[in-house]
Amino acid sequence: MDFDRLRKLYRAELSDALFDRLGTFINRETGIKMSGDKKVMVQARLKRRLKALDLIDFESYVDLLFGPEGMRTEVVHVFDAISTNKTEFFREADHFDFLVNKVLPEYGAANSDKVLRIWSAACSTGEEVYTLGMVIQEYLRKHGAFDFRILGTDLSSFVLALARNAVYSEERVRSAVPEFMIRRYFMASRDPERQTFRVVPELRAKMCFERLNFMDDRYSVKQLYDVVFCRNVLIYFSREVQQAVVQKLCRHLKPGGYFFHGHSESLLGMDLPLKQVCSTVFKRL
Ligand SMILES: C[S@@+](CC[C@H](N)C(=O)[O-])C[C@H]1O[C@@H](n2cnc3c(N)ncnc32)[C@H](O)[C@@H]1O
Repeated sequence: MDFDRLRKLYRAELSDALFDRLGTFINRETGIKMSGDKKVMVQARLKRRLKALDLIDFESYVDLLFGPEGMRTEVVHVFDAISTNKTEFFREADHFDFLVNKVLPEYGAANSDKVLRIWSAACSTGEEVYTLGMVIQEYLRKHGAFDFRILGTDLSSFVLALARNAVYSEERVRSAVPEFMIRRYFMASRDPERQTFRVVPELRAKMCFERLNFMDDRYSVKQLYDVVFCRNVLIYFSREVQQAVVQKLCRHLKPGGYFFHGHSESLLGMDLPLKQVCSTVFKRL
């Protein structure tokens, strides 16, 4: 893009009318609430798409998006641009303590030689999935007997690609993962300049990542799960959508299986086939 077009792009503004049109579409397709205070964020994030497509105004972008070609190729970029992917290793760490002290012993006592299945729904860049993998592997080192598999799903193909790749900055890993786990479950890049760690292949082999939109009528997962983590995503939806999503997730949770949601979320007053175990953990009826 030449300098003149870049300057025009820099000045481009998303009008209220276009934001409303985009917001209605995004809300319908993803469930994410699009209140007016998100306009600045959407404008900034979509400008990167305009630049990549060599466009200098939002009118042309919206025309392209809502055209037949855009509906096939551009929608995925819009979802990537609007989703908030903040996550970290050992986020809301008491959930992993609960898993180790309650869920895994209970599962092990009833299911030796079986495969524990966990679904991290809205897994973002994978830190939640690999944290689960590390703590379960640690538990099995001491108490062995069963195996495990973890499915990570997300709306955004971009974050899923990062999750599959499992490469994280050294700083991100060191700030949250205990040193002994880093030694066991990460490999430092051969190139010291890069300062990255990659999850070891043995752990990656137990994980699988797939794209799944919570707004789909039916979820395309084939298994029933023993544990579902659905953390820090319900908060972006209306109460009505939250209830519908958790109801659909419950269809894939075994009776007696555990459901975890984030600490800033609540299922209070919802009609769900779940019994509360503690503030953010529930058991499938
Ligand atoms: C803040 S991250 C949460 C990551 C992780 N669960 C945690 O607690 O750290 C929220 C994730 O929800 C995903 N998301 C948003 N809307 C979604 C939808 N309709 N279906 C599936 N995933 C969605 C986003 O792409 C994002 O990666």
